[in-house]
Amino acid sequence: MAESTDLFDIIHTTRAMRRLKPDPVPDELIHKILEAGICAANGGNRQTWRFMVIKDRTIKERVQHFYKRAFDEVVGPRYRSSAPPPGSSAERYARQHDAVEYLTEHFHEAPVWIVACLNEGTSTPTRSSGASIYPAVQNMLLAARALGLGATLTTRHLQYEAEVEAALGLPPGVHSYAILPIGYPMGRFGPVGRGSLAEIVYEDRWGKPYAAAK
Ligand SMILES: Cc1cc2nc3c(=O)[nH]c(=O)nc-3n(C[C@H](O)[C@H](O)[C@H](O)COP(=O)(O)O)c2cc1C
Repeated sequence: MAESTDLFDIIHTTRAMRRLKPDPVPDELIHKILEAGICAANGGNRQTWRFMVIKDRTIKERVQHFYKRAFDEVVGPRYRSSAPPPGSSAERYARQHDAVEYLTEHFHEAPVWIVACLNEGTSTPTRSSGASIYPAVQNMLLAARALGLGATLTTRHLQYEAEVEAALGLPPGVHSYAILPIGYPMGRFGPVGRGSLAEIVYEDRWGKPYAAAK
């Protein structure tokens, strides 16, 4: 089923949906996604987040230029030379590579983007800065999934951060942390592929398997 209200079903099927139809997404749904975003935890509840809804084709094309350049220079070669991650397989990883390349070529065709930003003023972003924006990003991904919309958390544009932030017209002190291309998915939602808890959870001591892990 495209839409879902079961939280665990939503969590287990919120995958990167990179193949999107160009059909417009009603603002009512984008509004719901944004409302879910701003329910997220954030440091001191300071809510220094800002979100841009981008529909303007020219802006998206300018950003896609750098998104593709980063694929050609870094991401494509890395995919070709690296092994499948835990919970994946060579075949599944090859499919992921194809989907990543597809999104790269069609990034600007997603009908709407949400760009998640932090207004950091004169303070230097630290390791914990992202902790005040990525919970909102995850809430928005889950909300999109619940509404039957596909989305992907993307950060590759940060390899050309200055150029992309200029294209987005961000003022000084505001930085982008993610671009979420959103649209109706071409394919179906399915379960995410991950390693098992037994491999990654320890109990009491580093390296001691968590007894309850299956
Ligand atoms: C920090 C971060 C940055 C990401 N950047 C991109 C990106 O630029 N482009 C992209 O296609 N996917 C991007 N992804 C999505 C991951 O590739 C994806 O979550 C991962 O392959 C697992 O796939 P799944 O979510 O479909 O299970 C990013 C994910 C994270 C957490």
